[in-house]
Amino acid sequence: MRKTPLYSFRLQWLVPAALFLVFGFLISGLLAPAWAHGWKSPPDAALVKNPVPLSPEVLAGGKALFKDFCSRCHGKDARGGEPGEYTMVPPDLVSRLASHSHGDFFWKINRGRGDMPGFAEDLSSEEIWTIIHHIDQLRP
Ligand code: HEC
Repeated sequence: MRKTPLYSFRLQWLVPAALFLVFGFLISGLLAPAWAHGWKSPPDAALVKNPVPLSPEVLAGGKALFKDFCSRCHGKDARGGEPGEYTMVPPDLVSRLASHSHGDFFWKINRGRGDMPGFAEDLSSEEIWTIIHHIDQLRP
């Protein structure tokens, strides 16, 4: 009879402990990509939709702009660069765009951070949105 209270005490904790583990895994799985590089745009910026309508001309333009302005760091097919002289390896933009919105990319490309230059001065907004369409089209 002495064992019963001890046993039920343990059982009582089993459900919360299991829930804690399950939710812990889920949350860390969701947040891991964000933590991996720790660069987040403000939520309202991330919600902005790409205003440039998609067309073959836009894609061709985006491809040419990407080659001129971005490929030396991010690689010619946007699959990430070499460590080189940078403190942070330029990321694989094709796989990043799978978990980031066009608006998030637009905000980051305008501002830059660390070795990633901001392009607000060198590229028009339309050109930046055009490049993002190009990166999006590289997704398998
Ligand atoms: C001089 C090298 C360099 C050039 C040129 C460059 N980038 Fe980057 N880029 C980086 C680096 C390094 C990072 C990682 C920055 C960080 O997370 O602090 C980065 C990050 C990014 C990100 C953020 C990805 C994320 O994690 O959310 C985007 C988007 C991006 N670059 C797009 C571009 C585009 C588009 C161009 C061309 C217009 C470009 N970059 C040109 C080096 C470069």
